[in-house]
Amino acid sequence: MNVKLYNKPLEQIDAELTLEFVSAKTLETHPHYALLTQAGFKGEQEQITPLHEHRLLICGIDNTLSDEFYRSAMATAVKAAMNYTYTSLKCAQYTSERFSALIEGAVLGSYKFEHYKSESKPSKLSDIIFSNENSDGISNEIDLLEATLNQTLIIAKATNFVRTLVNQTPYDMTPQMMAVTADQLAGSNHLECTILDVNGLEEEKMNAMLAVGRASHNPPRLIHLAYKPKNPRKVITLVGKGLTYDSGGLSLKAAASMVTMKMDKAGACAVMGIIKAVSELKLDIEIHAFVGAVENMIGGNAYKPDDVLVAKNGKTIEVRNTDAEGRLVLADVLGYAQENVKADYIFDYATLTGACMVALGPYTTGIMGHNEALKQEWLNAAEQSGEYCGNLPFNRHLKKLIKSDLADVCNVSSKPYGGAITATLFLDNFIDEDMKQKWVHFDIAGSAYTESAWDVHTYGGTGAGVRMSLNWLMEHCK
Ligand code: BES
Ligand code: ZN
Ligand code: ZN
Repeated sequence: MNVKLYNKPLEQIDAELTLEFVSAKTLETHPHYALLTQAGFKGEQEQITPLHEHRLLICGIDNTLSDEFYRSAMATAVKAAMNYTYTSLKCAQYTSERFSALIEGAVLGSYKFEHYKSESKPSKLSDIIFSNENSDGISNEIDLLEATLNQTLIIAKATNFVRTLVNQTPYDMTPQMMAVTADQLAGSNHLECTILDVNGLEEEKMNAMLAVGRASHNPPRLIHLAYKPKNPRKVITLVGKGLTYDSGGLSLKAAASMVTMKMDKAGACAVMGIIKAVSELKLDIEIHAFVGAVENMIGGNAYKPDDVLVAKNGKTIEVRNTDAEGRLVLADVLGYAQENVKADYIFDYATLTGACMVALGPYTTGIMGHNEALKQEWLNAAEQSGEYCGNLPFNRHLKKLIKSDLADVCNVSSKPYGGAITATLFLDNFIDEDMKQKWVHFDIAGSAYTESAWDVHTYGGTGAGVRMSLNWLMEHCK
């Protein structure tokens, strides 16, 4: 889909279809009021009514003050327009702030993943054109709008890049393929890329990560991508959970819960998407993206409940459930990342717990960490970017739930509640003392993947984490 900006009034733009957002309020004064009401249009959010005889596509909007409502309405409108035979669609961009939300709606809403269909059904719609004139006939600075267009396109396309990685099957996207993909990204975006194979992981004493991957035919990989601009204002470490498949291991998942577990690599895909966007935006921020790419399988040599693992930082872990594998992988990757890069901040992204969905619902990323002010910055960034993020607070009592009588720490909690937080308190054991206040953990178990369309998302990976992270980075690393 080409998203374009023209420096002329909407009427003078040549396009086959015009998109208009109409609310219940503005409906009454609409020139096609009679026709629209006849068609049953009430101006409800995302209600779509085409007036083909007028080459108009009318989309309902509930809240004309909210970017979120426009972003989502735009996605729905573009999806509808793609089902017709028009090749171009034009749209007034209302205010300049709204412009970014509309572009996101267009790019994220038009995303299709047809890699596994024997026949793809390409849409005829190829151009979405915006005018620099808003709905009141006032024209905005074209340079400013062009900069917004460029920036928003990079971030939205990086989000789609993440979605496509997540959507690959576990057969296609093995840990080795994750490494190949990272290497390709490094080539196209001038990043540094280091890959550790099993030998490298053994040398680094990353025994927790190795244990998780041991029963798989697809051996694990540690991936380190680095973007190093000349004069970075900040150095940021990102860590992603990259379980290319999570069967649960010997603590095998039930059949129904195993389906969708190709998405357990979404944290890894997110950090790759973030470094992609930062490098394309040429931000003055040094980014290090670390990925633990592993497959959690069963087999005669599988790691077991009752095993004790020695993590890279020397701490011992009692394994009581092999399905709590993400935290074991992250324990070692966090250790490796902190040993190799002295960063101003360390952020990790992981589809870590089903409990996060129980706590916050299926759309919201859980945010956890010791630094309340830093978490608040992230909550604001998420809200501005159109992602949902909710704080899950630590307390000293929850910490006791992962105590082990046998080893330093246990990989599961002794109580069945608060699992998203106890998982994060487990990770806390692998955060160095000087990084405690600089660390934030994002649980994207719910937000990273969907089997039913919502907001700007269709079936599959959502690209959770990319938009909110770019928002935080651009705001706080200036
Ligand atoms: N990858 C899962 C978490 C998950 C569940 C992500 C559903 C997305 C959707 C993780 O490895 C896991 O299995 N966690 C267990 C932890 C438990 C054994 C303490 C869980 O959430 O049940
Ligand atoms: Zn698991
Ligand atoms: Zn997992």
